[in-house]
Amino acid sequence: MTPPSNPAAPRIAVFGSVNMDLVAYVSTAPGSGETVWGTRFAQVPGGKGANQAVAAARAGGDVVFLGAVGDDAFGTLLRGNLVESGIEVSGLRTVPGASGVAHIVVESSGDNSIIVIPGANGEVTGLRDGDERLLAGSAALLLQLELPMEGVIAAARAGRAAGVPTILTPAPARELPDELVGLVDLLVPNQHEAAAMTGEQDPYRALDALLGLVPEVIITLGEDGAVHGSRGERPVRGQARRVAVVDTTAAGDTFCGAFAVARAEGRGREEALRFAAAAAAISVQRPGAGTSMPDRAEIDRLLAKG
Ligand code: RIB
Repeated sequence: MTPPSNPAAPRIAVFGSVNMDLVAYVSTAPGSGETVWGTRFAQVPGGKGANQAVAAARAGGDVVFLGAVGDDAFGTLLRGNLVESGIEVSGLRTVPGASGVAHIVVESSGDNSIIVIPGANGEVTGLRDGDERLLAGSAALLLQLELPMEGVIAAARAGRAAGVPTILTPAPARELPDELVGLVDLLVPNQHEAAAMTGEQDPYRALDALLGLVPEVIITLGEDGAVHGSRGERPVRGQARRVAVVDTTAAGDTFCGAFAVARAEGRGREEALRFAAAAAAISVQRPGAGTSMPDRAEIDRLLAKG
């Protein structure tokens, strides 16, 4: 699906992972030593970075992606998927060896568990010549934690040097080095990541604690929506839409990519939360990661319904 070219589209840079998702759909995930029948298998493009890039591009962003695939068959498919989504891939390197792979189990409730084998993503330990030029002038730089930490920090440094606001999704959860925290403008953890970082189960208390570290925070709460806080402003609650959930994989990535586009278009935080929640609500009604993100027309249609 190639988004229509729009000269007014905000430039969004994504420095992150790209994986082939190998997905088993089951009634209930097996426990250790247990074998169960699955209902379906799917191979779909994923990776937190690529998912955010595709979500932002379909939501109306002019997206540049920086990362790595392997020189295997998955690498060719993953690169092709980004290109088809209208994403600029001159910062996507091909390295010898396997591409990143994620083994995903999706239960009939829509909940999932994921094992990531980083492959080529593990080679992205820094920026290459020309990457700074690709980031420059972007309205936002999206980062996640599926690349080596030194690569994530190098990108955040380059973003700060270029005056590009950095949005970090701290997933998969890892200890955040102080330097990285100091380079983040907006942190978007889910409720579990926020609780792990702060020791606070209550999202508003976690928000307060995180605002002591970074200037702006969104905690995503799944079916309970999201809460947004900025230093010196009252927190704002965004509601999630009630929908029939098929697969929650990449819902958070979709939310983040769409939110970045909405803010870059100049929408206020309430409106941007509504836009992002609408994108995520559509994505959870579809199976898979890179296959589930809505395009701009679908998001606008849902928003028009109120
Ligand atoms: O956030 C969902 C993503 O996590 C999946 O697409 C999988 O590749 C893992 O990276």
